[in-house]
Amino acid sequence: MEQINYEEIKTLENGSKLVGDLEFPKRKVWVKTYGCQMNYHDTERILSHLEPLNFSLTSRQEEADLLLFNTCAIRDLANQKFYSHLGNTKHQKKQKEVKVAAGGCIAQTESKELLKKYPQLDFAFGTDVVDNIGEMVYRAYAGDKKFAVTSWDRADNYSIQTKITHGSPQAFVNIIKGCDKFCSYCIVPFTRGREKSRSVAEIVNDVARLVQYQGIQEVTLLGQNVNSFGKKNGESLAQLIMELEKITGLEIIRYTTSHPYDISDELIEVHGKSKKLANHLHLPVQSGSNTVLQRMLRQYSIEHYLERLDALRKANPHIVLSTDIIAGFPNETQQEHEATLELLDKAQYDFIYSYNYSARKGTKASRMRDILTKEIRGRRLREIQAHQLKIQEKVRASMVGKTYRVLVEGKGTMKGEVKWKGRTNCFRIVHFRPETLDQDYLWHWVDLKITSATALSCQGEIIRDYGKRVTPIQ
Ligand code: 5AD
Ligand code: SF4
Repeated sequence: MEQINYEEIKTLENGSKLVGDLEFPKRKVWVKTYGCQMNYHDTERILSHLEPLNFSLTSRQEEADLLLFNTCAIRDLANQKFYSHLGNTKHQKKQKEVKVAAGGCIAQTESKELLKKYPQLDFAFGTDVVDNIGEMVYRAYAGDKKFAVTSWDRADNYSIQTKITHGSPQAFVNIIKGCDKFCSYCIVPFTRGREKSRSVAEIVNDVARLVQYQGIQEVTLLGQNVNSFGKKNGESLAQLIMELEKITGLEIIRYTTSHPYDISDELIEVHGKSKKLANHLHLPVQSGSNTVLQRMLRQYSIEHYLERLDALRKANPHIVLSTDIIAGFPNETQQEHEATLELLDKAQYDFIYSYNYSARKGTKASRMRDILTKEIRGRRLREIQAHQLKIQEKVRASMVGKTYRVLVEGKGTMKGEVKWKGRTNCFRIVHFRPETLDQDYLWHWVDLKITSATALSCQGEIIRDYGKRVTPIQ
């Protein structure tokens, strides 16, 4: 089968679907996703293609007919978790007829090795072919075994439609894929390939459709380096945001992830003038030391980075900033490490994601001589995290007494008490107690007055409930 024609799929009297000449009875699919938002978004796309083939999602691995792994290669820890989980599927395969497939970043570069090493694996597929999962599943059920698909014979442009399989008003929208930066430690350019952007016109149509027909009110524009969006065809992220701004019913626009080198003056200006762009920016710095940044091939200096933060804060005084840090880059000196602690003092981030450096095969950094021990790396990471927590405590304390508009995302029980959880426009999670227990706030907009805030948790009380729309739609 070359390409499934989804419109031609028939439902038979016994509830099966007829796809080409193959019957697909009702089956269950279980998916394990590792890694970044891009991977979670890819999983959603995968599921949207499997539904027409009669698959429904299950969270119970033991009852599934098809097991899918969407893998991440960014650090060794993610690899190890996947290998051990995949290893365990051997037993399940012995007990019942189950197909096992691995996709994502590890599968993109290591599909052949994976198929050889894990006999239980039926097929492997790369990051570029998630939209062809239907064809691959068809092939597997038609009897094909141990195949790998990492590219699909298709035109080179990047044109997709966003698929939604959930009922929430928040959507992730891919705008660019791949990365041309080749930071010396990073595997992404090898697993996701070169940068390819969608067009502004296509994305605007896509988002307008999501807002109008699927109730989407918040979009996160996704890419490995969204600041390079449109460069190859004379468009820009700033331009895209100002176009999306015009869509009635769309309330919040976010984007991630950014590279500091490409944050243009034009984009900073948009942070000042856009009414819908969120008051939050995640701007990965990786290290506070210029010499480490050079070895990382990051293309900017700390002075330039801090100047960009200043400009962002001038453009939008409400903006909240966060970052990524890698502790223990090869041969990082104590002095270079301390420069990162100093940077945290200067930048005053709301939160950070921090990781120990992990050598990735094929990258430049993996070939660097490295005398740091695991212990030194671990200690430096803990120091960075402890230092940030103290800063975070102060940054968050300044929220107390202020009122924030929050989109409620769910509820949970904390210390025996029911609490709802929402996210501010500036990306902070706030918990609040319902006025009455049977009140359902899910996906409501509410105003919350912050009553207490520590480095890791924030509590508020409800001031106003707007219901599911904060601005009425004509
Ligand atoms: N080791 C540790 N952290 C890494 N990251 C990317 N590659 C590596 C690596 N080899 C981190 C960076 C990036 C985040 C997504 O993952 O901080 O911003
Ligand atoms: Fe990796 Fe980001 Fe650097 Fe691209 S910009 S190579 S994705 S760290």
